[in-house]
Amino acid sequence: MPESLGVAVIGAGMAGRAHAAAYRAASTVYASTLPPIRLVSIGDVNAEFGSLAARRFGYERSDTSWQAIAEAPDIDVVSVVVANHLHREIVEGLLAAGKHVLCEKPLSDSLDDAVAMADAARSATSIARVGFTYRRSPGIAYLRDLVRSGVLGRVLHVSGRYWTDYAADPHIPISWRFKGAQGSGALADVGSHLAYIAEFIGGDIAEVSGGRFATVIPERPEPLGAVIGHEHGAVSDTFDTVENDDYAAFSFDFADGGAGAIEVSRVASGHANTLVLEVFCENGSASFDFRTPSEIGLMLNEGPVAQRGFRRVLLGPEHPYLRGGLAMDATGVGFGQNEGFVYQARAFLEEVAGIEEEASLPRCATFEEGVRNMRLLQAVAESAARRGAAVAIPQEVRA
Ligand SMILES: NC(=O)c1ccc[n+]([C@@H]2O[C@H](COP(=O)([O-])OP(=O)(O)OC[C@H]3O[C@@H](n4cnc5c(N)ncnc54)[C@H](O)[C@@H]3O)[C@@H](O)[C@H]2O)c1
Repeated sequence: MPESLGVAVIGAGMAGRAHAAAYRAASTVYASTLPPIRLVSIGDVNAEFGSLAARRFGYERSDTSWQAIAEAPDIDVVSVVVANHLHREIVEGLLAAGKHVLCEKPLSDSLDDAVAMADAARSATSIARVGFTYRRSPGIAYLRDLVRSGVLGRVLHVSGRYWTDYAADPHIPISWRFKGAQGSGALADVGSHLAYIAEFIGGDIAEVSGGRFATVIPERPEPLGAVIGHEHGAVSDTFDTVENDDYAAFSFDFADGGAGAIEVSRVASGHANTLVLEVFCENGSASFDFRTPSEIGLMLNEGPVAQRGFRRVLLGPEHPYLRGGLAMDATGVGFGQNEGFVYQARAFLEEVAGIEEEASLPRCATFEEGVRNMRLLQAVAESAARRGAAVAIPQEVRA
């Protein structure tokens, strides 16, 4: 095991800050098996964002170029948390420099770039993983356990929606999120999470159909200053074109039977972060709603029919991640999205430190899984371009 691990985060925006905080907290959960974690640098082209985040989260310094981080001998582990179209160059540069890389989802903004990144990862001497954070949500992980253990039985139908409203206001300034081909908008931003979770729970998707995109706010004002995440900020009176999807939907068939549908939006006013998932199976059903992340709904086909119905199960130490995963890990104390980033950072550090898999949190997704996720998104775009036609996911890329 290394004597210590030096960590950097590239991107001090909305999710970059979550990564920065997560590495800080990763050693404070579960048993003390990690080597000392040194919080070394926050990299951001915006020097002010970088230095503010470094100070806030206790990192030794900030850098304004990813190359400085790639070259730094005191850094071993790097999270890449910048706009999707920037992932490839930075990830490839870091892997060439021997850094272990945790890249944010989706792996890239194009399938070709994602495939090239997976090639680079295969020939690298270091570890490359992609952060599908929501698999770390105890409720979602438990839905998978309920399916995989046979309690719920064969999956018949999965319904997922991820409604957000960060772009519902037409005065939200244009940013990288609104640029790129159809499918690089709401579908890539939040639909990538749901597509990953659908397979995480229900197994491989064999075919998508009914692909549909809509851009309902066609232009947005230019920002007057730097904007991060979903911030409002002052805007000019010059407008720029929104190129990609505000809304996306598609249906799918699982390879092992069962069907489903996913609907995502960034203009669903009143739904700041509504990820809702329902899984209908042979023996019953289960549901998860990110507005109440510390509980799931469960319905089992047992007992008198007249008494059946969904019950509310509060998550606690008997469920994934929570025993030792919160400072106070009692049932009902609450859990949130930020903890998911902590578990993700912990899992990545455990793998880099060489702690065996059985003694670690489930490993982070591989770049191959990241490519697969991109293939699904691409298939949805193809379906939409062909007015909802069915598009098969090639057999050989089913992991
Ligand atoms: N897992 C999750 O829940 C989650 C949530 C939000 C975003 N994300 C992902 O995280 C990534 C970043 O999203 P965000 O919302 O944090 O973006 P953001 O726009 O809030 O922040 C991006 C930051 O990158 C900086 N930056 C731009 N170019 C750079 C460069 N060349 N080198 C270094 N820094 C640079 C910007 O100054 C900004 O501070 C995306 O891939 C997104 O899909 C994941």
